[in-house]
Amino acid sequence: MKALILSGGKGTRLYPLTYTRAKQLMPVANKPVIVRVIEAIQQAGVVDIGVVVGHTAPEIMDTLKDGSAWGVKISYIPQESPDGLAHAVKISESFIGDSSFVMFLGDNVIQGGISPLIRDFEHNAWNSQIVLKEVPNPTAYGVAKLRADGSIEQLIEKPANPPSNFALVGIYMFDSTIFKAVNSIQPSKRGEYEITDAIQWLIENGYSVYPHVHEGWWIDTGKPIDMLEANALVLEELTPSIDPTAFIDETSQVDSRVTVQAHARIVNSVVRGPAIIGEHSLVENSYVAPFTSIYHHTTLRNCEVERCIILEESLISDIDTVLRDSLIGRKVVVQRGNTRPHGLKLNLGDHSNVLI
Ligand code: G1P
Repeated sequence: MKALILSGGKGTRLYPLTYTRAKQLMPVANKPVIVRVIEAIQQAGVVDIGVVVGHTAPEIMDTLKDGSAWGVKISYIPQESPDGLAHAVKISESFIGDSSFVMFLGDNVIQGGISPLIRDFEHNAWNSQIVLKEVPNPTAYGVAKLRADGSIEQLIEKPANPPSNFALVGIYMFDSTIFKAVNSIQPSKRGEYEITDAIQWLIENGYSVYPHVHEGWWIDTGKPIDMLEANALVLEELTPSIDPTAFIDETSQVDSRVTVQAHARIVNSVVRGPAIIGEHSLVENSYVAPFTSIYHHTTLRNCEVERCIILEESLISDIDTVLRDSLIGRKVVVQRGNTRPHGLKLNLGDHSNVLI
C-alpha cells in the first residue's frame, strides 16, 4: 500500500493568507494540516508517500523534506498545471505502479485517522473505497446518490440539485484500475479532470466501489470559517501539556486544557482551554479564551482573544475590544495608535476581510 497526498491548488478561499503560504501548510492547533495528514497515513502503517505539488512546491518540500521526521519516505510529483484531482492521479502512475493506494487531499482533517479504513480496504477485494459524510451544504462537494441497500448509484461533482447530503470526503482508496478510469474521462465543465467522474467511471464499468459512511467529524479547510472550526475540533482532542521550558508566572491562570509549547511565556494572564500557545510566544496582561491557537514567536499584550488562529511573529497589543473568530496571518501587527487624528488605520493586503 502506498499513499498519495495532493497539495496543489491556489487556496483562493483563504486569501490573503494563501498569497504567501500554501493552504496545506496552514496550522490547525499549531501543526500544518498536511503534517496531520502524514501522521494519519503513517499511523495506518503506510510509509511510501507521493506528494503531488504545484506552484507552492518549494515551501511544501522545505517543510516536509524526505519525510524522515515522521518516519515516512516522501517522493515529490510535480503537477505542472492544476488540472484536477484525477489528473494528479494520472501523473502519479509511475510512482504508484501496480500497488493499491490511499489518496488524501492535503487540506482535509478527519477525526479518528484512517487506520480502520486502510484495514477494511486491505481485507476486501474492492477496487475502490470512498468515504462519505452527511453535510448541510452538499453543493460544495462531490455528492453520492445511494441505493436503498447502501450501494452507490451515482457520484456527481458539486451538483446544483444534490440528490443526497452525502459528501465525498477527500480520502479515497484505489487499486490500479483507477488508472484506466482517469485515462478514460473527459474534463468537467470547470475544465478539470474530476476524481468524482473517474470513480463514477469505475461504477459504470462494473468495478466495485465501497462507500464508507464516516460518523466522526471531517473538515475540508477551504475557508477561514472551516479553519477555525477544524482548529476548535482538533484542540478539543489534543492531550494538553506544558513544556518544561515554558514559563507561567504566579499571577496567571492556565487551566488543565491548555498546551504551552517550548519557551512560551504567560505573564499576568488568563488562558482557558482548549487552547495552545506556541513556541517562544508571549501572552502578557491578556485573556485567551477557548479554541484559540497562538503560533510561534507571537506576542499578545493587553488584549483579549477568543476562538482565533494567530500565526507566527505577530503582535496584538492594547486592544480594548475582544478579538473573536479571527484568522490572523504572519507578522501582522494589530495595536492601539495614540497619535491624532484617531480612527482606524488599516494597512491590509488584497482580499483582506475586516468586520468592525
Ligand atoms: C474536492 C473534490 C470533491 C470533494 C472535496 C473534499 O473538491 O472535487 O468531490 O468532496 O474535494 O474536500 P475541491 O476542494 O477541490 O473543491
